[in-house]
Amino acid sequence: MPTVELTKRFRFEASHVLRNPEWNDEKNYEVFGKCARPNGHGHNYELFVTVRGEVNPDDGMLFELKQLKDLVNTHLIDKVDHFHLNHDVEFLDGIIPTAENLAIAFYHQLEHVLPDVLYEVRLLETENNWAVYRGKE
Ligand code: NI
Repeated sequence: MPTVELTKRFRFEASHVLRNPEWNDEKNYEVFGKCARPNGHGHNYELFVTVRGEVNPDDGMLFELKQLKDLVNTHLIDKVDHFHLNHDVEFLDGIIPTAENLAIAFYHQLEHVLPDVLYEVRLLETENNWAVYRGKE
């Protein structure tokens, strides 16, 4: 049976600040620039969730898109949309919320609700910057 990938896009808005609490202000500004400003700033994030598998010959689908939308909204988007990623999101506690770290954390958040089919999480922080995580390959 051929394997296909199916992707759905989600959008959310959130604020964050990039700071390592182990470092002083000078070092944080040196590494993170204006992203280290303590009151934070916002992004219009885009998240692409890709599932992978075989097409069910009965309905021609790999995964029902409405179900994918509901699962990702419930288990991820609702927990991050219009929140401050450093302060308000339990599963991000202690994580510097770069696109890389967010992609990894989001993947782990979804792998339990999309077992066997979750393939890739692609997080766009801006139209020019994104991070991709596919689990431990
Ligand atoms: Ni930022």
